[in-house]
Amino acid sequence: MAFNFTEGKLVIRNGTVVNADQKFKADVYVVDGKIQEVGPNLRVVEGVREIDATDKFVIPGGIDTHTHMQLPFMGTVAVDDFYHGTRAGLAGGTTMIIDFVLGGRGTSLLASYDQWRKWADEKVCSDYSFHVGVTWWSPQVREEMKVLVEEKGINSFKMFMAYKDVFMLRDDEMLQAFARCKEIGALAQVHAENGDLIAVKSKEMVERGITGPEGHEMCRPEEVETEAVKRAIMLANQTRCPLYVVHVMSKSAADEISAAKRKGIVVFGEPIAACLGTDGTNYWHKCWRHAAGHVMGPPLRPDTTTPGYLMDLLANGDLDCTGTDNCTFSGNQKALGKDDFRSIPNGVNGVEDRMSVVWEKGVYTGKMDVCRFVDVTSTTAAKIFGLYPRKGCIAVGSDADIVVWDPDQTRVISAKTHHQAVDFNIFEGLECHGVPVYVISRGKVVVDHGKIDVVKGSGKFIPRQPWTDFVYSRVHQRDKVDQPQKVEREPYTGPVIDLSKK
Ligand code: URP
Ligand code: ZN
Ligand code: ZN
Ligand code: ZN
Repeated sequence: MAFNFTEGKLVIRNGTVVNADQKFKADVYVVDGKIQEVGPNLRVVEGVREIDATDKFVIPGGIDTHTHMQLPFMGTVAVDDFYHGTRAGLAGGTTMIIDFVLGGRGTSLLASYDQWRKWADEKVCSDYSFHVGVTWWSPQVREEMKVLVEEKGINSFKMFMAYKDVFMLRDDEMLQAFARCKEIGALAQVHAENGDLIAVKSKEMVERGITGPEGHEMCRPEEVETEAVKRAIMLANQTRCPLYVVHVMSKSAADEISAAKRKGIVVFGEPIAACLGTDGTNYWHKCWRHAAGHVMGPPLRPDTTTPGYLMDLLANGDLDCTGTDNCTFSGNQKALGKDDFRSIPNGVNGVEDRMSVVWEKGVYTGKMDVCRFVDVTSTTAAKIFGLYPRKGCIAVGSDADIVVWDPDQTRVISAKTHHQAVDFNIFEGLECHGVPVYVISRGKVVVDHGKIDVVKGSGKFIPRQPWTDFVYSRVHQRDKVDQPQKVEREPYTGPVIDLSKK
């Protein structure tokens, strides 16, 4: 049989290649899942598939920094599993997710990691990686964090300041967890809300007879998030540990991150598609299912200027990269809390629509340029989490995770047409400019003008190294040049009060 020289090869012609630092007209030649060449008028072997990207952008595939596929949570399991979730992600131009291993209290982190790997490996259609949740604290957890970093490709751990009696750590435990992250070169992540307060206020709310989804927001208003963000930044700073605040949902919480950055603190902030694309007025919607469909923690904010404000901060670098917190529950699952908002499973969609929402609210509005779009949807995530330059850029040697993005096409988001398993979409009816016409995952065309061609289980786990340069280079240098110094002085020789004499 003659060898087929064109197999595993494709060339993208005449597009504008966009990286975080620059954009330029070039062809991109892909061979065996990697980018082989980038340049004008590339000569390739005969018969190679050609994709025409005239008038289109050729961008690195999106990286969703925050998903929870098939998460067992609040008595049920998130309906978008690793198959539907990664397939939907690809449909929207996201070629990699970083999901969370979230075992319960008392469960070995390593055992949870193995369980999540098994769930993911058999279903993922795109590449993926994991953060690991530190949902309880013990010497065993401390030890296992090191094993996860040294042997399992983990370099980020999420600590919860909320979900009391489920995932929440106390401040002294957080301090120890932050210190441990610093010792092993991992990035500490935090879910920032005051869990004690939420426990008290949510009970009060129900006692007042407020049992609907609006109660979910009212018992955890903005300052509940803001206080926790400030506290987490302080605790991390005092342990000299870099910090990443997941799902930054409110203006005042984002302001704490901005202020810390202005003081030189190494902290990163992650807004999500939900808080950039919609708001918390939905909790007051007359339709219970609609309101419950938006329940997540921290909640969306009723201040309707929030999405635009967070987008401004994302555009100017005060916030860093975008995830989704994709954690979806269908109507019958949300209905577990029909009589008490405390039992509504927390979580919303986003993995499919993040790229479109950021484009629509960020690029189409003129708040950010297309290079910054690439930065906040892919490159910065790759740098923070140690995937760069394998992921997050169009460059020779990088994985061929590529999106051909047509800025002139539009689409309307709807649960009727989305590819997620969930029966609701928080962006329902939003018209978005910018459509991923081709999506290429490791060199394979998986989306071609809306036609999806994926293979269950074909995605790969991407292990990550500790001591990521983007996160740790400043920290290392400060440790070298800025340590507490004692004052050299003559010993005190004067009288000392005798406390034994009354
Ligand atoms: O509501 C949310 N965010 N559900 C997922 C769990 C988490 O806190 O990220
Ligand atoms: Zn969280
Ligand atoms: Zn309805
Ligand atoms: Zn989450």
